Amino acid sequence: MMPTAPPKDSAITIGDAEFDRICDFLYRRTGMIFGEVKRHYVDRRLRERIEASGHDSFRDYFTMMLADTDEYERLVSSFTINETYFYREEYQFRCLTTSVLPLVTQHKRRGDTIRLWSLPCATGEEPYSIAIWLLENWASVDDWQVEIVGSDIDTTALRTAAAGLYGARSLMRLPTSVTDRYFTRTEDGHFQLIPDLCSSIRFTRVNVMDRAAMAAHGRFDVILCRNMLIYFDDKSRREAIGNMYDCLVDGGFIFLGHAESMSRVSSLFQVRRFDETILYQKNTETAHG
Ligand SMILES: C[S@@+](CC[C@H](N)C(=O)[O-])C[C@H]1O[C@@H](n2cnc3c(N)ncnc32)[C@H](O)[C@@H]1O
Repeated sequence: MMPTAPPKDSAITIGDAEFDRICDFLYRRTGMIFGEVKRHYVDRRLRERIEASGHDSFRDYFTMMLADTDEYERLVSSFTINETYFYREEYQFRCLTTSVLPLVTQHKRRGDTIRLWSLPCATGEEPYSIAIWLLENWASVDDWQVEIVGSDIDTTALRTAAAGLYGARSLMRLPTSVTDRYFTRTEDGHFQLIPDLCSSIRFTRVNVMDRAAMAAHGRFDVILCRNMLIYFDDKSRREAIGNMYDCLVDGGFIFLGHAESMSRVSSLFQVRRFDETILYQKNTETAHG
């Protein structure tokens, strides 16, 4: 038997100074921290971008990328980790309908808008999960104008989100009855979300470190910021949380992922312990509840 060919080695080398430069650049722009432990990950992705853009040195590539927004976005997209799936940390969706929305709506009139922001939304499973969960589990859903926005820094992930086409792994936590109601099966075994649901979510590119871009989205009653701050350090976490604070209405809520917390980084929020989960509520005299 012939042995399999070894992976083709790239002629492009990334020196220590170049590694430091790209890590520093990504950190300052996005908040994501890549240290020596991620050296292999960083080198591989960077080499791929240099080659794909037709360059043969870091220096030429970096100079070009700084002046080319599309390439900058492709570079960032190649460094993000988009792990997500439908009904991830489902207990948080339960908390949304049993505890949070009753508090949020206390101060609204029937028919008013409720604004929910899935930031980051990665490939869209999270904002679509919110929509499906509300339709399935919230009896008052028709009494309100619910607006769900999905945002992420990763433009490639956002394209997948808008298409609403998923593999079986993304749906592994959904009950079959829910899958049958909201998806159609394609010939090649994928699952296409029904058009009404796809068009019910607005997807936008947002960098959580960009205060002005965040503010342009207005204020939200609830922000789900799950499983992103684990890739940040305390300084970038603090900055991102400050930007989110500005985008919440008085008394608005933030959901974080189960491995994340505001401790050490923010006193701007009140810790709220519900049966299902701990949430963070914008500190204000007029806070809901
Ligand atoms: C692991 S996914 C989390 C997706 C979803 N919230 C969930 O919990 O399933 C992390 C996402 O954070 C996004 N991200 C990283 N830095 C970001 C930034 N500065 N602004 C906005 N999104 C960012 C990545 O593109 C990635 O899609």
